[in-house]
Amino acid sequence: MATSPSHSSSGERDPERSLEFEFVRATENAALNAIHWMGRGDKEGADAAACDAINGSFDHVDLCGEVVIGEGIKDEAPGIFLGDRLGTWRKGAPKFNIALDPIDGTTNISKGLPNSISVMAGVLAPAKGTAMLNIPTFYAEKLAYGPAVAAALQRDKSLRFDLDTPVAEVIAKTAKILGKDVQKIVVVALDRPRHDSIIREVRRMGAALRLISDGDVTAAIAPSLPDSSVDLYLGVGGSPEGVLTAAALRALGGDLQLRMWLRDDEEKARIAKDPMAKHLRRIFHADELVSGPSAIFCATGISSSWLLPGVKLVGHKAITTSILMRARSRTVRYIRAEHDLEHKRIPLRSQLRESKV
Ligand code: FBP
Repeated sequence: MATSPSHSSSGERDPERSLEFEFVRATENAALNAIHWMGRGDKEGADAAACDAINGSFDHVDLCGEVVIGEGIKDEAPGIFLGDRLGTWRKGAPKFNIALDPIDGTTNISKGLPNSISVMAGVLAPAKGTAMLNIPTFYAEKLAYGPAVAAALQRDKSLRFDLDTPVAEVIAKTAKILGKDVQKIVVVALDRPRHDSIIREVRRMGAALRLISDGDVTAAIAPSLPDSSVDLYLGVGGSPEGVLTAAALRALGGDLQLRMWLRDDEEKARIAKDPMAKHLRRIFHADELVSGPSAIFCATGISSSWLLPGVKLVGHKAITTSILMRARSRTVRYIRAEHDLEHKRIPLRSQLRESKV
């Protein structure tokens, strides 16, 4: 049966289908507005530019978008925060829960390094609560793997591992599942002193280690990409980044295990009063972090990563590459856009009008 673009095969209205490209426009605009900050040593400047473009891009979209995973706690830094609103909020517009990181890898941009993206996820808001779990700790332990490993863990108890399994065993079981030598298993981790024991274990096993300076959304998605050559992502990184990763993995078929990680006593005391405190030892999977029948995930490359090439400036054109996926259909789209900078205008909230790139 033929369906109109905004209706699902069951005939129900499917606002995701009509709105998903608005998400891409927003991350494209964020990338284009942030690219000028590359290498300038100003993280906040880059982040402010990306936020301004995302806010401005949605100011004209009929959507009631509530930010349920934003950029942490409101302070002097620019940002789009928990509780902020995107869209016109016109009566009758579809309600979405939104998670976003206007730039994952702000330090990378400020230093002119690879691996920075603008990233968003959206889920139709449920009648009660939210479809995305707001993890109250700043950091979380994470373990991400691709679809073949996720399926094997479901199928075969003897192959199972989790965040409590020693790193050596995780690597050995992953190698067995993928039919590879341990030496061919590629593990990615953030290059941080807190990961010294993980780094030591990976090297002791003889597996290949790729340490990254920042940007663990792309790193944790990498094992689920057929051509990344990455098999595992391990370590402690930002919690909001974990939820964004989960939205992508729901469409790609891989999985992420995530558990809250307390960074200091002050956080421990704060969390004790949070309703999530009883889940401190719980391991969450991707479909618990982002629940509901479907999720939109989209990202645009600012500088190149496993996931996406960065913005290329060629003469008067800027070329962007974005990925857009939906958990419901599991369609993965790569969108390459050529923007003619002599004509391109970006809607910026700060200007209340469209501005030249
Ligand atoms: P931002 O660009 O949003 O600042 O995040 C960069 C990042 O590397 C994340 O990808 C990662 O989850 C987190 O920071 C790790 O935190 P830290 O740098 O404190 O180890």
